[in-house]
Amino acid sequence: MGLRFQAPRGTRDLLPGELRLWQWAERLAREVLEHYGYAEIRTPLFEDYELFARTSGESSDVVQKEMYRFKDLKGRDLALRPEGTASVCRAYLEHSMSGQGRLQKLWYAGPMMRYGRPQKGRYRQFSQIGAECIGVAAPDADIEMIALFVDIFEAWGFESLTVAVNSVGTPEIRRAYGEALRAWLEPVREMLSADSRQRLEVNPLRVLDSKDPGDVAFLTGKDAGLGPMPRLIDSLDRSAAAHWDAVRAGLDALGIAYEVDPGLVRGLDYYTHTAFEVHDRSLGAQSALGGGGRYDGLIEALGGQPTPGVGFSIGLDRAMLVLAERGTLGDLPRPLVFVVGMEATQRHVHPLVRALRQVYAAEFDLEARGTTAQMRTAGRRGATAVVVLGEEEWKRGEVVVKDMKSGTQETVILEGLPERLDRIMGLTGEVRAE
Ligand code: HAM
Repeated sequence: MGLRFQAPRGTRDLLPGELRLWQWAERLAREVLEHYGYAEIRTPLFEDYELFARTSGESSDVVQKEMYRFKDLKGRDLALRPEGTASVCRAYLEHSMSGQGRLQKLWYAGPMMRYGRPQKGRYRQFSQIGAECIGVAAPDADIEMIALFVDIFEAWGFESLTVAVNSVGTPEIRRAYGEALRAWLEPVREMLSADSRQRLEVNPLRVLDSKDPGDVAFLTGKDAGLGPMPRLIDSLDRSAAAHWDAVRAGLDALGIAYEVDPGLVRGLDYYTHTAFEVHDRSLGAQSALGGGGRYDGLIEALGGQPTPGVGFSIGLDRAMLVLAERGTLGDLPRPLVFVVGMEATQRHVHPLVRALRQVYAAEFDLEARGTTAQMRTAGRRGATAVVVLGEEEWKRGEVVVKDMKSGTQETVILEGLPERLDRIMGLTGEVRAE
């Protein structure tokens, strides 16, 4: 008989072995975020459906095809969050965080839900770690955000990362550009995929996202007759061009490797000016490890004062897939002390283990099996030190301590046990004092 219940399609369990890598990565990311002055925020897993519909864009895939939308028992129109930026901006307004100093630097981590077709690197529940810098329009905020993004990947051991960057201008610039793109594609309109023909009507920029090979051939200019595709970065007005130039100059000054990708438009509609992404080709089709950009109109769209913002999210599932494939293990398990009892001393084992747990990870055999079985378990659990409560030794106030790495063992008085264990476990007095 097959298993009656399995994790829902597109979701998965993260088991303890795998989580060592996640915990390591989350710890390092948090350190980098804190060095950049970011404070954590936690928002609900579900929100008003309208919050996402209004910000991600009615014509985006996220809203059109991927939203987990539901009504609660009172008929409220809700959605599981597909991303974090809209929620953070909603919280920023709800708690009048603009009044607490113009600038807010916030980070978050947690699960997001999108109803996409599951495949390698694409899940219906996935985790992001992200950062949002709200309140500053100056290009240095974009530059700092990209530097933070890169530094998190570097902390995880990614080297020579190249960030794809583009400017998507302002909504007015995009509207004019959309017209130009539509006119450019007009001669081949009937040969485009059905999806792209529809996008051409509603939001022409989305055509640039098409993965259809026929569309891609037109867009990359491989099919003759169309001439060079108009580029959004060539359509920027003076102020948008100045911002774009300043961002690239700032990245140059920091020595951050980037590549201008004029076709980069991102999947969500709230972006203005800077947009960026990083990819790892080893992942195949779902290669974006993370992305972000500026969203100067988002807070206003939620009913707030015009307030600029810029941010990114990293897809942890994809980043962890790449790291695991490279053999990154994450945090080593803590060194373990295993206490072995004998028939006459077994009742002293648990109290001693409890005391040891003030300082170390310590274990004993809950089933109080024979000494040999206990010793075998200690070995299997990878204990660094084993303390044996031998009958005769215990009567004398002594225990036997075995260093599992060197195989040496020594009888010590109970009072001398912490000092002996510290030496075996590689702990210094300073660490203990923490
Ligand atoms: P996004 O590009 O939609 O941006 O998602 C960011 C990252 O989340 C992607 O690059 C990818 O690694 C991961 N991701 C997205 N969908 C899935 C999925 N179905 N399965 C696994 N991983 C996935 C945002 O979400 C924006 N909120 C980023 C942002 C923050 N922009 C400004 N601030």
